[in-house]
Amino acid sequence: MTDTRSTHTPPIQARPTQARAAQAQTLAVEVTAIEKVTPLIKHFTLSAVDGGELPAFSGGSHIIVVLRGATRVYRNPYSLLSSPRELDSYQIGVRRMEESRGGSHFLHDHVTVGSRLEIAHPVNLFALAKTARKQVLIAGGVGITPFLAQLEDLHGGAVPYELHYSVRSPEHAAFLPRLRAREGDRVRMYYDSESHAIDFDGLLANQPLGTHVYVCGPAGLINRVLTTAKRWGWPDSHVHSEQFAAPPTGDAFEVFLARANLKVHVPPYQSLLESIEAAGVEVPYLCRGGVCGFCQTTVLDVDGELDHNDHFLSEAEKSRGKSIMPCVSRAHCKSLVLDL
Ligand code: FES
Repeated sequence: MTDTRSTHTPPIQARPTQARAAQAQTLAVEVTAIEKVTPLIKHFTLSAVDGGELPAFSGGSHIIVVLRGATRVYRNPYSLLSSPRELDSYQIGVRRMEESRGGSHFLHDHVTVGSRLEIAHPVNLFALAKTARKQVLIAGGVGITPFLAQLEDLHGGAVPYELHYSVRSPEHAAFLPRLRAREGDRVRMYYDSESHAIDFDGLLANQPLGTHVYVCGPAGLINRVLTTAKRWGWPDSHVHSEQFAAPPTGDAFEVFLARANLKVHVPPYQSLLESIEAAGVEVPYLCRGGVCGFCQTTVLDVDGELDHNDHFLSEAEKSRGKSIMPCVSRAHCKSLVLDL
């Protein structure tokens, strides 16, 4: 996964205590290997500094990587792509984002073998459904990463599965040799450069009852799968999506934290959540991508418009303007007042 995400899997309810616990339990890891696997993606191996095992996780989990730059701290979510059965290290794939506010550039340009990082405990917002009779996985680009770990869970099991993997050209097909060696013709490749696209209707129209479909990748791919599945009558509970979307940039504004009695400046290239954290005020979070609901915050006043970028609040909640997800949303205003 990259530094942005949304999940269509039914959203989990906010549990601030659990979120605070996950935030508090950071682990110290050392980068023990880095490999460039495509022109844009680097594969990082992270091992516990004390040499012990890392916490258990299941396929689809992500971690938050804490990156301490010279002037600011980034906390970016990345999917774990290593086998859930091998806990001597975690592996993540990081795509250099053209529009990055700095997190992926920091990892690509400043993190080397031997660098020490902090990570949060793994959290799974994109888990495989245990009751599925068939699993259909659809990946676009770096969206392959959560599926690599899920395939470790699926491989050798009784439930049939298949992977559809779309990339812009063969050189951008990260981890393909590993997939081919392990999964053979269960992997179907689609290359934009060869005008070979997934036939979404053909794929989703005739799956057996009880099939679950999972999609991870760019917003366009996710939207195609979600709308096609809806058209063919798939129940929402059988359609799962995940997209890591970086918090968008925007105009600077001021936020007043009413309970802390604190005024905080939100610059154009820092998210609302990052700005609040930099001022020393804690907000619960899990995904930092606008999907889990943990960071939901009450808006007390705003002298402009909220810029909602999350996938958690309903359209009605967004238009009421009483709540905001500060991990990805901001405001077009001079002043925003939050119940923090
Ligand atoms: S941290 Fe998940 S929605 Fe903000």
